[in-house]
Amino acid sequence: MSREVTEADSLPMKRYQALADDVEASIRTGVLKPGDKLPSVRHITASRGLSPSTVFQAYYQLEARGLVRARERSGYYVLGGARRIPPELESPSNPADASIPVDVSELVFEILEASMTRDVVPFGSAFPSPLLFPITSLGRFMASSAQSLDPWSTVDDLSPGNAELRRQIALRYLAEGMQVRTDEIVITNGALEALNLCLSAVTRPGDAVVVEAPTFYAALQALERNGLKAIEVPTHPREGIDLDALEHAIVRHKPKACWLMTNFQNPLGSLMPLQKKQALVDLLARHELPLIEDDVYAELYFGAQRPAPAKAFDRNGLVLHCSSFSKCLTPGYRIGWAAPGRFAKTVAREKLMTTLATSAPVQIGLANYLERGGFDKHLRKLRRALAEQQGLFAQAIGHYFPSGTRATRPAGGYFMWVELPEGVDTLRVHRHALSLGISVAPGPIFSASRSFENCLRLNYGHARDERSEQALQTLGRLVSGS
Ligand SMILES: Cc1ncc(COP(=O)(O)O)c(C=O)c1O
Repeated sequence: MSREVTEADSLPMKRYQALADDVEASIRTGVLKPGDKLPSVRHITASRGLSPSTVFQAYYQLEARGLVRARERSGYYVLGGARRIPPELESPSNPADASIPVDVSELVFEILEASMTRDVVPFGSAFPSPLLFPITSLGRFMASSAQSLDPWSTVDDLSPGNAELRRQIALRYLAEGMQVRTDEIVITNGALEALNLCLSAVTRPGDAVVVEAPTFYAALQALERNGLKAIEVPTHPREGIDLDALEHAIVRHKPKACWLMTNFQNPLGSLMPLQKKQALVDLLARHELPLIEDDVYAELYFGAQRPAPAKAFDRNGLVLHCSSFSKCLTPGYRIGWAAPGRFAKTVAREKLMTTLATSAPVQIGLANYLERGGFDKHLRKLRRALAEQQGLFAQAIGHYFPSGTRATRPAGGYFMWVELPEGVDTLRVHRHALSLGISVAPGPIFSASRSFENCLRLNYGHARDERSEQALQTLGRLVSGS
C-alpha cells in the first residue's frame, strides 16, 4: 500500500477552503446579502487565478455550510438566514495528559437505551434516516441470492468471508487508487465487530490505546470491556488529531495502538487533510505503532471525491482499516470488514474463534448488489440529501440556539458537534429533552474523562419536517435555560 501526496491533492484543498472562507466572511459582514448572486465561476477563475474545479469545490462547500444554494442554469445565491449560522468551532480539545482507565459504559447505555425508540425525535441517534436507503432494491438481491443459495456456501463463506464480496470491496479500494488484496479482507458483522477484532489482535489487558478527544463512545466501551486504558489526545474540530500531541503521548505513555477516525470523525466530523494523514502514518511507522482506522463515514463526502484513508499511505502493514455498509447503504444487514494489514491472519482467526462467520446469504446478496445494484447512484443521491440537510440544520441552530453557540461544519457525514455557552449541562439537557420526546447525544459520553459537559452531538441525517423543526426550537429553549 502506498500513495504519494501530490501537489494536486493538497493545494486545491487549501485554495477552495480559502475561497469558501472569504465568501463566508463577506456574507457574515453583510457585504453579500440574502438573495445576492455569487460572482460567476468564470469571473472568479479569472480574477483569482484558480481552476474552475477549485471554484466549484468552494461553492459546494458553501452550499454544505448552508450559506448558498445553486439555482438551475443561473448560479449560486446567498440564502436567507445565512448570517445566522453559528460560527465554526476553531480550537482543538485540551484533554489531560494521562493514561486513564475507562468507565463510561453505564452512562452510555443509560443514554442510548432511552433513545432507542422510533417515537423520539432522533437527534441523538447514530444512524441516518432509514428512508434514505434503497431497501426495496436491496431486498430483490437478497431474495434471489437466498433462493439460489449454493448449500456449500455455509462452508465456503466462513471467515474471512465470501470471496466475491471481498473482491467487490477490493475493487472499491482500487477505484480509490489503493491496492488491497482480497485475502487481506475479513468480512465482519458490521464495522464494530471489525474494530473489536482488530483491537484484540494488537492489545492485551492493561495496555493503553490512543483515542481522539472527543471520540466515538463505542471505542471507549471497547477499551473498557478489554481492560485497556485510554490516552485522550487533543483533536482539532476540522483537521483531526494533533500530531505533536500524539507524538508526545506516544513517548510519554507508551500506547500499544491508536484508534482513530481520519474521515468525518464521530462526533466532530473532522476530516484530516491528506498530507496530515501521510504524516500520521509516518509517525506511527517510526514508533512501530498499529493504527486501527475507523472509516465508516468516508462514502458520505460532500466534496468532489472520497477522501483517502490513512491506510492509503501505509507501507508497513500497520494500518488496520475498518469500515462497513451500515452508514451508507444498510444498517440492519450488519456487513462490515477489516483490512488489517500485517494482522490479517490474526484478525481472521479472532473472527473464527468468536462469531465464526457472517451470514452467508446476506454476504452473497450484498456482493450481487455491489456488482449490479447501482450503489454509486444511490450514494450520489444520499450525499446530496445529507449536504442539504446539514445546511438547513445549521441555519436552525443559528436561529434557535443562544448566542455563544459554536458548531462544526463537517464536509461529510451527518453529525454536527455543537458547543454551547459555558455552564450548560448537556446531561441535564438530555434528560429534559427526552422527557419531551427528543433525543440528543450529550458530550460526556464521548470522553473517558466525561468532559465536554457543554457539548452535544446532533444528527441531521433525517429530513426536516414540522416535528423536527419544533424539536429544534424546544431544544434551543432548553439549552438557553428557559
Ligand atoms: C464511528 C463509528 N464507527 C463504527 C460504528 C459501527 O458501525 P457498524 O454499524 O457497521 O457496526 C459506528 C456506528 O455508529 C460509528 O459511528
